[in-house]
Amino acid sequence: MAASATEKTRFYGRRKGRPLSQNMQRLLDEVLPDNLLPEDMDESWLSKRRAQQGKDSELILEIGFGGGEHLAGLAAMHRDNLFIGAEPFINGVVSLLRHIEAQKLKNICIWPDDVRLILDKLPAHSLSAVYVMFPDPWPKARHAGRRILNQGMLDRLADLLQPKGQLRMASDHPVAKSWLLAEAMRHPDFEWRARSAADWRERPSGWPQTRYMRKGVIEGRLPSWFEFQRR
Ligand SMILES: C[S@@+](CC[C@H](N)C(=O)[O-])C[C@H]1O[C@@H](n2cnc3c(N)ncnc32)[C@H](O)[C@@H]1O
Repeated sequence: MAASATEKTRFYGRRKGRPLSQNMQRLLDEVLPDNLLPEDMDESWLSKRRAQQGKDSELILEIGFGGGEHLAGLAAMHRDNLFIGAEPFINGVVSLLRHIEAQKLKNICIWPDDVRLILDKLPAHSLSAVYVMFPDPWPKARHAGRRILNQGMLDRLADLLQPKGQLRMASDHPVAKSWLLAEAMRHPDFEWRARSAADWRERPSGWPQTRYMRKGVIEGRLPSWFEFQRR
């Protein structure tokens, strides 16, 4: 029997973690509203919001930003660009809000839910880059359908990325590394531009480091970095 649309977009991760402290609730109540991607976001809202960053601003999406350290790092490095970050884990959203407040960031729009719910609202060829950093590996073969990156997702990202736009992915899990690489390599719209082992073994400059990455390296989990280009 074919899976229903709801089953196909079912989210299997966690939405809540530790109970929210008073300060976490304050961040949600006071900081989130100014940095929220509205549910009724459309092309005209997005073009006005981009114009606030500057006429040459680029639009960049991070899928599953976790605690938001990488996304905040990018946004701090490129204050003229606009970043959309999607993350259904509310404690992760709060953590990003902490970075936004501390670094006075004004260029992140947060979608505190499943990224698949906004992909159809984004204009075609509007994104200059998409980041999928350390996605949940779902290592068991019977859970492969839960992995965020698959041919359907790549079809959508190919529509949304500009020609020569970048799909940037990283993982330190052996199953996820092979999966990300194999899926993107077999998609006709993406090209892997690595020329030597250093291109996937070394963190490319401009990809902010996070505590999770540093901890992984100390514990012997070496990340791989994959940069694909939209043809
Ligand atoms: C292993 S964590 C990695 C977090 C972060 N990118 C990092 O590098 O630390 C994967 C994240 O992807 C998020 N995620 C999973 N499915 C998602 C979806 N459909 N839309 C948005 N985020 C998703 C999870 O909630 C989780 O926070």
